Amino acid sequence: MYSSSILFLYHVAIKAVHGFSSIEEATVHDIQRAFKQNQLTSRKLVEFYLKQISRLNPVLKGVLEVNPDALYQADKADHERKLKAPGSLSPLHGIPILLKDNIATKDKLNTTAGSYALLGSVVPRDAGVVTKLRKAGAIILGKATLSEWCHFRTFESPNGWSARGGQGKSPYTMGDPCGSSSGPAISVAANMAAVSLGTETDASILCPSSYNLVVGIKPTVGLTSRAGVIPVSPRQDSVGPICRTVADAVYVLDAIVGIDHYDNATIEISRHIPKGGYAQFLKADGLRAKRVGIVRDPFYNFGMILLPLKLKQGTILVDNLEIANIDEIYSPTSGEGTVLATEFKISINAYLDELVTSPVRSLADLIDFNKKNSKLFVKAEATNGIGNAEKAALANLAELTREGFVELMTKNKLDAIVTPGVSVSTILAIGGFPGVIVPAGYDSKGKPFGLCFGGLKGSEPKLIEIAYGFEQATKIRKPPKFIFKGSIASLQS
Ligand SMILES: *[C@@H]1O[C@H](CO)[C@@H](O)[C@H](O)[C@H]1NC(C)=O
Ligand SMILES: *[C@@H]1O[C@H](CO)[C@@H](O)[C@H](O)[C@H]1NC(C)=O
Repeated sequence: MYSSSILFLYHVAIKAVHGFSSIEEATVHDIQRAFKQNQLTSRKLVEFYLKQISRLNPVLKGVLEVNPDALYQADKADHERKLKAPGSLSPLHGIPILLKDNIATKDKLNTTAGSYALLGSVVPRDAGVVTKLRKAGAIILGKATLSEWCHFRTFESPNGWSARGGQGKSPYTMGDPCGSSSGPAISVAANMAAVSLGTETDASILCPSSYNLVVGIKPTVGLTSRAGVIPVSPRQDSVGPICRTVADAVYVLDAIVGIDHYDNATIEISRHIPKGGYAQFLKADGLRAKRVGIVRDPFYNFGMILLPLKLKQGTILVDNLEIANIDEIYSPTSGEGTVLATEFKISINAYLDELVTSPVRSLADLIDFNKKNSKLFVKAEATNGIGNAEKAALANLAELTREGFVELMTKNKLDAIVTPGVSVSTILAIGGFPGVIVPAGYDSKGKPFGLCFGGLKGSEPKLIEIAYGFEQATKIRKPPKFIFKGSIASLQS
């Protein structure tokens, strides 16, 4: 029964928009062209996504709240386009975007990191990235689910689960969607939104993008403002797009980068933003003459050695590289855990303190609220600021980065390293480095995965050229047919 109603919806959607074949799978570029040719309105677009959400979300659980004002914002965008208002030419104008539920909006939507503890809290203002999205004319479609508290309350809860959002599922496997930005990835994969925003501390954009066969960009830390984002660590947190295509992700990136005086890290990093933005790096031959490194141990220890050969296209693959201190980077003694616990306590307390009203005001309140199952909260609460142990851990992380990844990249003059899946995320996390993940295929069990391209700070232009070149040469992503074939009924339970 479920499947037939979904098929029905699909036909309605096509009929509703004359001349424009389907909103499903439409890119930002397709949508803007359809706007221009009067074949589509933002209202139709929002209506389509709201229908998709009402049909698919009871099973997939990618969306936590829809914005009661989304249709109003759509009408406003349609009106501005009619008047040819100056802002209406921006690529994101009139495009519905879904935000991970740790990104604050000062509107009717709640911002809770998936937890009932923050339900009813009132934020002081829009997050920095939301201010920029509104300025670009984007429509805030709603909030997306996540691994509760970005998986920083306890490691025992499953990926993609939160008390408020339930258990999110990858539409490709109906299983683990990875996290913590699970909802954004699930939702764009299943066409419940045009584009979305996630956040990453270590793997939280890259991993769900991989599991849901979509594109994720984790920007250099500070390229995008973290102000108004429920934090884990200002040293590692980054806000970035999760979309169906590299181009869509780049349009979103262009809209959200830049200085925000509520996040001073954006000031220094803004010097990396290229004049004219990032869309100029969407070049079909972007792989040509790029030096891309392969570190086999430990990243190719599971039988996907041949995959990077698909890069071809004039790419210079530099194979059999080693990262000097790789074992230590991935060991519990690297210092990452020690510092994150301390940074989390400081930054979550600051976030809670700044709320206009809130049922909880401190990490201690959160531990009381949850009572059990708060191992990581409890560990963080036991910390006492950046002391000698934390300074030593920070120094160690800096040294591991300098002698490891930075040395590898500079000595070999690499533009990027490439890994299957997201095992490289910790290297990028501790150094504040960017990564872009692009759909690459399915493993032997039918589980999707992406290829991740990582680089040094500010290397987004190169990473975008490579990722776009790879995507255009391979075109691997297909919508999750699985859902539309009727298998959903039996898997629903
Ligand atoms: C936000 O939470 C309140 C309290 O549960 C709820 O009444 C309201 O509908 C929520 N807002 C949205 C947009 O879902
Ligand atoms: C950013 O830096 C300015 C100047 O140093 C300072 O006044 C301001 O308080 C800082 N803002 C934040 C949010 O830290």
